[in-house]
Amino acid sequence: MTRKTLLGGVSAAVVAVAAAGVGLADIRTGDSLVINGEIEIVTETAPPPFLEGVFSTIYSGWVFRTDETRAMEADDFDNPGMLYVEQGLEAFNTAMGTEGNSCATCHETPETLSTVRATYPQWDEEHGTVQTVEMQILECQTERMGVAEPYGYDSQEMRNMAALIASVGRGQTINVAIDGPAAETWALGEEIYYTAYGQMELSCAHCHERNYGNLIRADHLSQGQVNGFPTYRLKNANIVSVHNRFRGCIRDTRGEPYAIGSPEFVALELYVASRGNGLSVEGPAVRN
Ligand code: HEC
Ligand code: HEC
Repeated sequence: MTRKTLLGGVSAAVVAVAAAGVGLADIRTGDSLVINGEIEIVTETAPPPFLEGVFSTIYSGWVFRTDETRAMEADDFDNPGMLYVEQGLEAFNTAMGTEGNSCATCHETPETLSTVRATYPQWDEEHGTVQTVEMQILECQTERMGVAEPYGYDSQEMRNMAALIASVGRGQTINVAIDGPAAETWALGEEIYYTAYGQMELSCAHCHERNYGNLIRADHLSQGQVNGFPTYRLKNANIVSVHNRFRGCIRDTRGEPYAIGSPEFVALELYVASRGNGLSVEGPAVRN
């Protein structure tokens, strides 16, 4: 994979972000998000060690949204993403597969899985690979429940379940491991992050590292963090997965995205998640 230099290679269609340099002038930083008056969310903090010198502060995507969108996330009654969490809870308690188990048979309540969102993607010793939350759910369905037709990686049912697992982890500090056996996958994710894609020759870093805060098509660019996923998107009127968002961003550069659930997107998710180490789990967040 070649890493192209982005300087000077920006097409006219993205002139809005052509001026390199962050533009936080329009962004109100320093506000705090407390969900339901009790869950304190870290929306800005010091970067993880490997990003020192790149960022002075890492920000949740929440910081870049309008007051209205921000407010929706502060109360579960106003957060449309919570409807999907409820559907996930129903499925959690429903038997599926030949063994007659529900998730609750083994995990009792979703709260017993409250550390999951903050620590995934995570190395799985048994399978010898880095696993996302979705992969772990599929593993339980196929290897422990006898489910003949497990959830599709990006299906509504999977997103509901992933949203449920995120919701019980809200407020926990993102802390994905990037060393040890996960190091190789992390390095692949880093490589992908800095690779220029599509006719516009833009990398993730071009928009989310060098131009966050700047406007692109009337939208303020964030640092592209994944701490709020699955995220309720007003545009979709539904919750979307991390990989779906990655795919959309690559398509916007007229590039050919990797497949949802592919090893490349798993690696990219691990890398991007680690860029948010220190922020809080927020999912389901509310975004444009
Ligand atoms: C028959 C028992 C059983 C059932 C039913 C089951 N699981 Fe699991 N699950 C396990 C075991 C055992 C592990 C630990 C595996 C490991 O550490 O690799 C696990 C691990 C997990 C984890 C990761 C926990 C962690 O701390 O890393 C998640 C998330 C999870 N299950 C979700 C689900 C969901 C969602 C369902 C229902 C669709 C489900 N499981 C059904 C037994 C079960
Ligand atoms: C042409 C600019 C551009 C490029 C290149 C780009 N994105 Fe984005 N991305 C956006 C815009 C615009 C949004 C919506 C506003 C925001 O949250 O930044 C967005 C949103 C996101 C979000 C959601 C953030 C949140 O808080 O919900 C993630 C995650 C993300 N991008 C990851 C990536 C990754 C990974 C890549 C590289 C594969 C990438 N993006 C490439 C423009 C871009």
